[in-house]
Amino acid sequence: MEIIIQPTPEEATKIAARIIARLLSRKPNAVLGLATGGTPQLLYQELVTMNLNWSQVKTFNIDEYAGLPENHPQSFHSFMRENLFRHIKIPARNVHIPDGNAWDVEKFCETYEKQIRAAHGIDLQVLGIGGNGHIGFNEPMSSLASRTRIKTLTRQTIRDNARFFGSRSNVPRHVITMGIGTIMEARQIILLAFGAKKSEAVASAIEGPIAARHPASALQQHPHVTICLDDAAASKLEFAGYYRETFRNKPAWQR
Ligand code: PGA
Repeated sequence: MEIIIQPTPEEATKIAARIIARLLSRKPNAVLGLATGGTPQLLYQELVTMNLNWSQVKTFNIDEYAGLPENHPQSFHSFMRENLFRHIKIPARNVHIPDGNAWDVEKFCETYEKQIRAAHGIDLQVLGIGGNGHIGFNEPMSSLASRTRIKTLTRQTIRDNARFFGSRSNVPRHVITMGIGTIMEARQIILLAFGAKKSEAVASAIEGPIAARHPASALQQHPHVTICLDDAAASKLEFAGYYRETFRNKPAWQR
């Protein structure tokens, strides 16, 4: 794991955006795994300003609410359209977002996994982290080997996301999410986290034991993870000084 700590979310985001831009210039038909939420909004803004060539890129979003109409303003379909897809030239057939209204959910989830495999897997997965340590909507105690499936949100996630829906009672209870096993097959992962509210989840993910109660801790076993944090999100890391020093002294060939 590489831990990059920057003073502000904007600076941390710029580093993540540069990693993605470099991938797209090296591999114009790269497959990206994308996330939604407050955290990656800045990243999408940054990518839009970079004028990248999206014509061959394929994307797979990590999750979607179950039962929410696709055109609901808080659906992840709407989020992606508003924050990224309407600003770039990507063929619609290259975009994949879980269908929260699939009639046969199990079959849909199997098909989604097959589509990822047919695209030769995800080159780079973007992740946020929940205040409770979830990645995607893999809530604490999700199997670390889980695949795309339907999940029930925890009360904490419903509370955290109520800000987008006006009240807790409007937040859908169920979601479709890639599993932790699915996420771990991405060849590279970038996790972004900002703000003190994420500091505990970040510390457990990076420095705690690998455990189903901290879903993001599974990333410790992935060979190529970059975690981009602002100072506040990094504030509970015991080894923060070491991570900062390592990044400052990165040999030129590794930059
Ligand atoms: P946030 O959500 O970016 O809105 O904080 C992150 C997540 O729940 O994964």
